[in-house]
Amino acid sequence: MRVIHSPAEMTAWSREQQASGLKVALVPTMGYFHDGHLSLMRAAAGMADKVVVSLFVNPIQFGPGEDLESYPRYMDRDCRLAEQEGVNVVFAPHSSEMYPDGFQTTVSVGRITRHLCGRSRPGHFDGVATVVTKLFHITRANAAVFGEKDYQQLAVIRRLVVDLDMDVAVHGHPIVREADGLAMSSRNSYLDRDERQTALCLYESLALARRAAASGVLEAGELASRVREHILSRSGTEIDYVSFVDYRTLEPVDRIDANTLLALAVKINSKVRLIDNSLLLTEEGAA
Ligand code: PAF
Repeated sequence: MRVIHSPAEMTAWSREQQASGLKVALVPTMGYFHDGHLSLMRAAAGMADKVVVSLFVNPIQFGPGEDLESYPRYMDRDCRLAEQEGVNVVFAPHSSEMYPDGFQTTVSVGRITRHLCGRSRPGHFDGVATVVTKLFHITRANAAVFGEKDYQQLAVIRRLVVDLDMDVAVHGHPIVREADGLAMSSRNSYLDRDERQTALCLYESLALARRAAASGVLEAGELASRVREHILSRSGTEIDYVSFVDYRTLEPVDRIDANTLLALAVKINSKVRLIDNSLLLTEEGAA
């Protein structure tokens, strides 16, 4: 496996592969790999001849007071794990090469970024759309795989690719969970034992809402009250949002149907913000 730091070298490598008729799949990450990342790598291997994993903690998607400095980093271990998965290249650019002096372009996706995480993290999706656009160009990816835990991010990237006529096939990959249901996330490493127990309220709430919807409770307002009550019954929780949206547009809905996604963001002990989601009436994408 190669580790490439320079964007120009990365592009040259991909051009070479594509010149021999090979397809390149990209898994964009910020590192600190868990099984969720590894499953994205496996999915990528199934859809292209070569797999590139980008590993870059993208400063422009973090807001003031967020966890850019403390975001967990473990490059050596990440490279070992990627190599075990048969990844061909880890692309780990330096910030100064991604955003050199004079950098002044932002890619901004519209309405779909204004709900959910976009509302509580202003500028976040501009940072994501900008870096992903750069990563697509640098790696010349034919395909890219994103986890569905950041469901809004996946929807934003899909919109970006369509709107800007990018020739990249974007694939969503189902959420990977711990045995007790907690969605895997690099940020879970911030949780101590008690906080990790508390964090299970996200998964439990999704399951509770799915059960209620299956039994005929289809008013979003009623389900939202039940979910909020469950989350707030755990001490140390603070709700950022409990939103029922159409999974295609992310627009809020009042009544649950087969297209409804419940998306949650909850802060645990004012320090760790976790997200999770599930479709409510279908098995696909279910918690
Ligand atoms: O999901 C992430 O890890 C990041 O938002 C991404 C897509 C790698 C862009 O920095």
